[in-house]
Amino acid sequence: MNNMVLYFTRSGNSKRIAEKVAKKIRCGTVEITDDKSWKGIFGFMRGGYYSLKQKVTRVSLEGDYDVSKADNIILVLPLWAGSTAPAGYSFLLNEKGKIKKLHMVICNDSSDTKKAFKKLELLVGKINNKYRITKKLGNEDSVINEICGNITDGGNTVQIGNED
Ligand SMILES: Cc1cc2nc3c(=O)[nH]c(=O)nc-3n(C[C@H](O)[C@H](O)[C@H](O)COP(=O)(O)O)c2cc1C
Repeated sequence: MNNMVLYFTRSGNSKRIAEKVAKKIRCGTVEITDDKSWKGIFGFMRGGYYSLKQKVTRVSLEGDYDVSKADNIILVLPLWAGSTAPAGYSFLLNEKGKIKKLHMVICNDSSDTKKAFKKLELLVGKINNKYRITKKLGNEDSVINEICGNITDGGNTVQIGNED
């Protein structure tokens, strides 16, 4: 199995989660970046605005990674104002058709993620497995175990980590 963990991060949480998953399933990570600055209070406000309006950004993948090489792509993205960060949906709009199997993790502070997944699937099509890692729920390590178990078992179930 050829697996790869991709992530976008503004403040480091998605990177930490991506690295934990990659270590457990023994694969690499690829950082997704885009052409906007999201730093500071203005970056925060711009981020909320871009996400709400679903404004697309120009995305780059570390090492120009080719997503079609992997059997499983694990994608970790932060939630920004009810959507994933713009780099996330912009990446999927470009690359979703090349991804064989997509396991997606939304990382956030407290909100529900069901609507965000629904909105994203309307935009980019079906996501095979869906998970949330939410600071308020303290579910990071249990959901990481669940993701890694599903990948190593080749599981086909749709999971939303600790959604209840
Ligand atoms: C612009 C912006 C909007 C956000 N909106 C939400 C939100 O609606 N709900 C939520 O639970 N967290 C929200 N967050 C918090 C992030 O999803 C959370 O801190 C996440 O862990 C950040 O991931 P990162 O460290 O990989 O950037 C928002 C953060 C930013 C920067």
